[in-house]
Amino acid sequence: MTAKVTVIEHPLIQHKLTLMRQTQTSTGKFRQLLKEIGMLLAYEVTRDLPLKYELIETPIAQMNAPMLAASKKMVIVSIMRAGQGLLDGILELIPSARVGHIGLYRDPTTHMAIEYYFKVPLDIEQRDVLIVDPMLATGNSAVAAVDRLKEVNPKSIKFLCLLAAPEGIEHFQQQHPDVPIYTAAIDERLDDRGYIVPGLGDAGDRLYGTM
Ligand code: URA
Repeated sequence: MTAKVTVIEHPLIQHKLTLMRQTQTSTGKFRQLLKEIGMLLAYEVTRDLPLKYELIETPIAQMNAPMLAASKKMVIVSIMRAGQGLLDGILELIPSARVGHIGLYRDPTTHMAIEYYFKVPLDIEQRDVLIVDPMLATGNSAVAAVDRLKEVNPKSIKFLCLLAAPEGIEHFQQQHPDVPIYTAAIDERLDDRGYIVPGLGDAGDRLYGTM
């Protein structure tokens, strides 16, 4: 069975995404919006985190109060470089999360993902992983990132992006049917350069002003 694709349609996310898509949005504003959306997406993606109950004391009384059950903090793995923009927002909401990085670049001709960096916590086998990259376009980077993560055997893997193309979702699900995808929108298609249409352009360039 193929894991779900969840489109997070919260009005605040949709409004901010529209601002990000617009050509006239500045680098600083784009970065700020991606961070804010990162926070909002993290809220939705972590909805199913299990809780445990612990006896605590408030100034008034004792109570059995809910706390996150996982003994090991989750790991957010950013696909560099655009993943950093989403990561920053997620860490605002989950400051104790651990962080991993995968450096992948896209070969301009073949669009294949080439790895140049990989660093994750040593005890990743005991942790849940959320991989983040704003754009799920061809799906090559996302597939390569999950391939690599599966080699180190984390407890679970989810994939979070801002925008997805139908082609990328299909490719990802063929390779990793067990990994759920979370996205703020599914756009129409890819163009012949592998860009999402209508999309928002090159997320890394817009995030760092390297256009
Ligand atoms: N990567 C981007 O940054 N933008 C796209 O449209 C596709 C891949």
